[in-house]
Amino acid sequence: MKSFQQRLLTTILIWLGILLAGMLILIGQLFPVYEQMENKLQIWSFLALIFIVAMLFSAVIGYRIIKVQALPIENVTETALELAKGNYRARAYEFSNIGTVELSSAINVLARNLQEITAVREMEQERLKTLIENMGSALIMIDRQGSVTLFNKAFTYEFALKDKELSDKFYKEIEIPAELEAFIEHVFMLEQPAREQLKFTQGMNTRHIDVYGAPVIGKHEQWHGIVIVAHDITELKRLEGIRRDFVANVSHELRTPVTSIKGFSETLLDGAYVDQSALLSFLEIIHKESNRLEMLIQDLLELSRIEREGFQVDAQPTEMDALIETAAERIQGRLEEKNISLKLELQPVLVQGDANRLIQVMINLLINAITYSGAGTAITVRLFEKDGEAVTEVEDQGIGIAASELPRLFERFYRVDRARSRNQGGTGLGLSIVKHLIEAHHGKVEVRSEVGKGTTFTIYLPLAR
Ligand SMILES: Nc1ncnc2c1ncn2[C@@H]1O[C@H](COP(=O)(O)OP(=O)(O)O)[C@@H](O)[C@H]1O
Ligand SMILES: [Mg+2]
Repeated sequence: MKSFQQRLLTTILIWLGILLAGMLILIGQLFPVYEQMENKLQIWSFLALIFIVAMLFSAVIGYRIIKVQALPIENVTETALELAKGNYRARAYEFSNIGTVELSSAINVLARNLQEITAVREMEQERLKTLIENMGSALIMIDRQGSVTLFNKAFTYEFALKDKELSDKFYKEIEIPAELEAFIEHVFMLEQPAREQLKFTQGMNTRHIDVYGAPVIGKHEQWHGIVIVAHDITELKRLEGIRRDFVANVSHELRTPVTSIKGFSETLLDGAYVDQSALLSFLEIIHKESNRLEMLIQDLLELSRIEREGFQVDAQPTEMDALIETAAERIQGRLEEKNISLKLELQPVLVQGDANRLIQVMINLLINAITYSGAGTAITVRLFEKDGEAVTEVEDQGIGIAASELPRLFERFYRVDRARSRNQGGTGLGLSIVKHLIEAHHGKVEVRSEVGKGTTFTIYLPLAR
């Protein structure tokens, strides 16, 4: 590509050549050069020679000028054009011997600055992208026309839109829950920040999200669209539900014995105390109910202690067989009451555990086995090592538990037969205490059962280190 300057220069040089040739011819007139020539051919040859020499001369000068003046400018122009195209790595040659050096170096400074700015911008964009992708909440941006302009992976994950095309789609076309769609519409209409907790069903599950929506306002108060951030709070809601149920359960469990104690004592105070037999039987009831109350409170305190964050058992190398024997001695009275025989098949095993806590676990399981078994049956406790773990089995021949009840068995206050369990003095907290204690030992507890045949609880504990 020839620049305007180059063309101008060429024209000037051609005219300069013609001028020079004319001057040489005129000089030839002044001196008697032509008279010495014999014919016209010679004169014309001479003129042509002069013309060629003049042209060559001006071409040489022209070339020098172009080289010194035009080339650097052309190079700078090219560099500037490259920069305009977005190639910020382009640089101009800084010819040192002529006046364009300042222009070239200015262009290079510009290029370097542009490159730096671009690098910073790219880094910021990268940072923003990483932030949006990893913020842990679902994010979507919708422009003024209602088209999706930006969203992150969490959004597609949260609303099961993984393989769907979302970009540039109208927000009502993408398959989001109706509740969320209504929320987006709300933010769109009011053009004001809003926050809400939404509940929706996804497949078989009920999900809860905390959504925040805000208009995106640019310069000059112009709004570009809205941004929506959603956070999954399903687990939080579940825990909240458990806590609510727990409080309701505790209140209920406390009310029953208190009502009973209050009722019987009031009857006695109203005059029943004069009847000796009524007095005795009512006092017995009151005593039994207050015992139950005490047990309930004890279990509640125990559970809250165990569930407290950072609860740790004092795990030491402990003889598991010995502590099972201790637990067996402590429930001897109950065994005799129901005429139940206890068989111990124990191998010596050293576990890493807290003896008192493990005795508590064993007593809980043994009392359950006694409580939920008929008179004259047998309970077997086995202890052995398997796959680097201590395995303890408590097997009874009792009423058993239906398979449908098993998943909830270790929940607080969960009882298969509420009336029966309560009658036997159960609080419904025993198995959740067992589970927590065993987990605090880094072990696990399992249950197998068959209705009418019996139940086996199995505890796995780490061996002593
Ligand atoms: N060995 C067992 N045989 C049959 N059912 C059992 C046995 N152990 C526990 N259960 C059932 O599990 C429920 C929860 O047990 P637990 O937490 O110890 O509470 P509870 O105070 O009622 O004994 C009991 O109410 C009972 O229905
Ligand atoms: Mg129990």
